Amino acid sequence: MHVLITGGTGYIGSTAVEIMRNQGYEITILDDCSTGHADSVPQGVRFVQGSLLNPVEICDALADVDVVMHFAGKSLVGESVEKPDLYKRVNVDGTRNLLDEMSKVGVKKMVFSSSAATYGQPQEIPIKESAIGAPTNPYGSTKLVIDQMIGEESRRRGIAAASLRYFNVAGAMHCERGWLAERHDPETHLIPNVLRSTAIDPVKIFGNDWPTPDGTCIRDYVHVIDLIEAHIKALETLTDNHHEIYNLGSGDGFSVRQIVDAASKATGYAIPTLDSARRDGDPAILIADITKARKHLDWRPTRGIDVMISDTLESIR
Ligand SMILES: NC(=O)c1ccc[n+]([C@@H]2O[C@H](COP(=O)([O-])OP(=O)(O)OC[C@H]3O[C@@H](n4cnc5c(N)ncnc54)[C@H](O)[C@@H]3O)[C@@H](O)[C@H]2O)c1
Repeated sequence: MHVLITGGTGYIGSTAVEIMRNQGYEITILDDCSTGHADSVPQGVRFVQGSLLNPVEICDALADVDVVMHFAGKSLVGESVEKPDLYKRVNVDGTRNLLDEMSKVGVKKMVFSSSAATYGQPQEIPIKESAIGAPTNPYGSTKLVIDQMIGEESRRRGIAAASLRYFNVAGAMHCERGWLAERHDPETHLIPNVLRSTAIDPVKIFGNDWPTPDGTCIRDYVHVIDLIEAHIKALETLTDNHHEIYNLGSGDGFSVRQIVDAASKATGYAIPTLDSARRDGDPAILIADITKARKHLDWRPTRGIDVMISDTLESIR
């Protein structure tokens, strides 16, 4: 099977490339390297350095492709508040271009990187896929619009699709070329920031007065390798005319303080932290209900928080 991986030089996409290449899938990458890294592309993989905003480049990347895994996009919540038009253009209009080009060349299967940000402030924990979408920032809004657009495309054109709503993706993967890990700039994700924290530049804890046992926010973390295994299962179970939405997390929550403590244990020293004000729009607790992915995809995450922390630590050493 020939898979087009958009965003295949980014953190999650490059891990997908590596795992799927090892499993014998033929792969083409489409990526403009705006936040990705061309040096992650393995030998023997076709790489189209191009943009979702350029239909000609998308069409080139789609040659002989059977299915699209769509990771490419902008994904910083804070940046999306400052530049909502950029997020609409790249995420929404870019995906529209991709779906249109897929339609022209007859590619009818897609797995899409959606996000827990589509839910906003949850009414119930754990969060089910049936929860109302009420994003609290432009990034989450673009992901919700895309999920709806793909659903519409499935009804209208019969494409087989899955939107995978990731909670917090973490960890890293070692391969022959070294570590595939988070190389975001700026890095906004907690685990790499905790592991890079120093006395001079300590990691910020946004609020210590949340209604949680230790006062810090609780999030659900999933290892990037487990996440890609779910993608492959989703791809293998795609059904014509169907668009399914699945939450991908661990089904378990860890507070910011618990992550800092686990990282302190892993490094052998007390991670310096700086108590800061709450951020607008941050929910106190986000935990996925992953029953649907467990049942329909026969998927189980197997790598716990300690592995996510130790792999990230190894990758930045
Ligand atoms: N990391 C997480 O915890 C998380 C959580 C929920 C959802 N997601 C989603 O997963 C996907 C991958 O996230 P990531 O953490 O690997 O981010 P990333 O920034 O490392 O990867 C995104 C990739 O998309 C590419 N890209 C951006 N704009 C493009 C364009 N116009 N044309 C072609 N390529 C373009 C970038 O160069 C990059 O390689 C994103 O869609 C993100 O919204 C990530």
